[in-house]
Amino acid sequence: MAREFTRVGVVGLGTMGAGIVEVFARNGIDVVAVEISAAALERGRATLTGSTDRAVAKGKLAEADRDALLSRVDFQVGLGALHSVDLVIEAVPEHLDLKQRIFAELDRVCKPAAILATNTSSLSVTEISVATTRPNQVIGIHFFNPAPIMKLVEVVRTVVTSADVVADVEALCTRLGKVDVTINDRAGFIANALLFGYLNHAVSLFEARYASREDIDAAMKLGCGLPMGPLALMDLIGLDTAYEILDTMYRRGGRDRRHAPVPLIKQMVTAGLLGRKSGRGFYTYERPGSPKVVPDEQTPVATEASLADGARAIAKVGIVGSGTMATGIIEVFAKAGYEVISVTRGAEKSAKVCEAVKTSLNKGVVRGKLSETDRDAALGRVTWSATLDHLADVDLVIEAVVEELSVKKALFASLDEICKPGVVLATTTSSLPVIDVAMATQRPADVIGLHFFNPAPIMPLVEIVRTIRTSAETAATARAVCAALGKTGVVCGDRSGFIVNALLFPYLNDAVKMLEASYSTADDIDHAMKLGCGYPMGPFELLDVVGLDVALAIQRELYLELREPGFAPAPLLEHLVTAGYLGRKSGRGFRDHTNR
Ligand SMILES: NC(=O)c1ccc[n+]([C@@H]2O[C@H](COP(=O)([O-])OP(=O)(O)OC[C@H]3O[C@@H](n4cnc5c(N)ncnc54)[C@H](O)[C@@H]3O)[C@@H](O)[C@H]2O)c1
Repeated sequence: MAREFTRVGVVGLGTMGAGIVEVFARNGIDVVAVEISAAALERGRATLTGSTDRAVAKGKLAEADRDALLSRVDFQVGLGALHSVDLVIEAVPEHLDLKQRIFAELDRVCKPAAILATNTSSLSVTEISVATTRPNQVIGIHFFNPAPIMKLVEVVRTVVTSADVVADVEALCTRLGKVDVTINDRAGFIANALLFGYLNHAVSLFEARYASREDIDAAMKLGCGLPMGPLALMDLIGLDTAYEILDTMYRRGGRDRRHAPVPLIKQMVTAGLLGRKSGRGFYTYERPGSPKVVPDEQTPVATEASLADGARAIAKVGIVGSGTMATGIIEVFAKAGYEVISVTRGAEKSAKVCEAVKTSLNKGVVRGKLSETDRDAALGRVTWSATLDHLADVDLVIEAVVEELSVKKALFASLDEICKPGVVLATTTSSLPVIDVAMATQRPADVIGLHFFNPAPIMPLVEIVRTIRTSAETAATARAVCAALGKTGVVCGDRSGFIVNALLFPYLNDAVKMLEASYSTADDIDHAMKLGCGYPMGPFELLDVVGLDVALAIQRELYLELREPGFAPAPLLEHLVTAGYLGRKSGRGFRDHTNR
């Protein structure tokens, strides 16, 4: 017969424990909430009441329900209070010896039928279980942060966990309104194994001053639609917890260097900068525990005047190319009031691009986003040309031709001969080194990367890529132009993948490796990232949209430039591309799209 869970215990009321208490109490289950000291207990109680008060203020919880919820929680110091519970979830700091001591004590205190669960993110549930005399009743129940909101629970079974214990815990997750995925005991399970390499990599970019914290976070939010940037997420997780998770994953997960905690994390932990919980981490918060970021000495001053500081005046823009990106960029500039000269390789191509821009602008009119007058004005600002000579007096050129270095270099050499002094020359390349293009001219200080995302009229992000020769004036001009277009420009260095692709594609590649190792299914991995981390798409959904060939090419570039062994393309990805399974565009990738 399935177990009834009427009374559960939660040990440790920190970032996770307090949220887990809320999840149970909200669902009508009595909770004994245990901390190590009276002071810690009060902190835990304050977190719970703060969270439920916020839910009431937002109209998501009735006052009477909040009172009922709180009345179900019995706050206690010490594990002795857990003698009558049916299930315990431990959420103390991520240290194996501490967890083993607690489990040995729980084994003594709790009734024989009780299930003992750990919320560990990376430690071995098996090693924790052998500290008890009932390893078959020990299981991992891994909630996500914030526990009351995130839908996913990873249920971790060891080789000795009883099947009925797994089944009862799965049923409990459903009762709590969660979606569970059940997996074996491997470092980082699904979500953290895919998340933490990415988080650590983002910290390393910040540590190397490759981009600012705001720009790294904005890039991932706006470029990938993630609910928060990696550095803000590190602050939410807690830097001490993140350090322990990385360290354990490094040791348990095959010593992948990408999990070796970046030195800055340890320094911040030592300095007491633990993230939101201590009031300061990568960002500064209103007070400890508050989600509200307040300005500090690293906060950029982004007034309109400061954005234009040192920038050259831009009125006339040349856009070279006739593909998807060029078409979108022409529309963006024309709508923003710039005078645009579109240059293609012939009248026929110009006519096609003109048609595509018209169609897109008309869609805007149909959707009520653009008036007919504004559409006509935008079109009126564009001159269609088939010769580069017309770019002699423009202030800015944006190149969006085929992604081949030789073609781009030849084009920049021509632009160098044709364009007036002081012009800013920009390339939209997504994978080639901008410096190679810049050195094809006699004016590398005026050359910069402007990496727009597809579709350009919709995506709010532009990566502004500075080479080691780009002048401050050119960079300031690029920033001012992005702002005038209503886009968020993030500034980064000239390295393979810039910010977004460098952080995104290794994660996608890792997901393929996880699938290849038969650790989980594509559906469960997609679920885990969507429901555990709030990603808009799972990695396999996204790979099928992006195209497996595109993903493989980007991953190869990253691997070649950075020589990181962990970036080697997953063999399964290579095989699928060889077999012609390229994703949606070929009808089949990780999933079959022919009947959808
Ligand atoms: N932070 C996250 O985003 C996250 C997400 C999922 C899982 N986890 C896992 O959850 C667990 C807890 O992490 P956290 O971030 O909540 O840590 P935390 O540091 O915020 O909280 C830990 C709490 O445990 C208490 N504690 C310590 N020793 C205790 C004892 N002997 N008895 C009772 N209470 C004790 C501490 O006082 C503290 O309040 C870890 O295993 C972590 O890996 C964390």
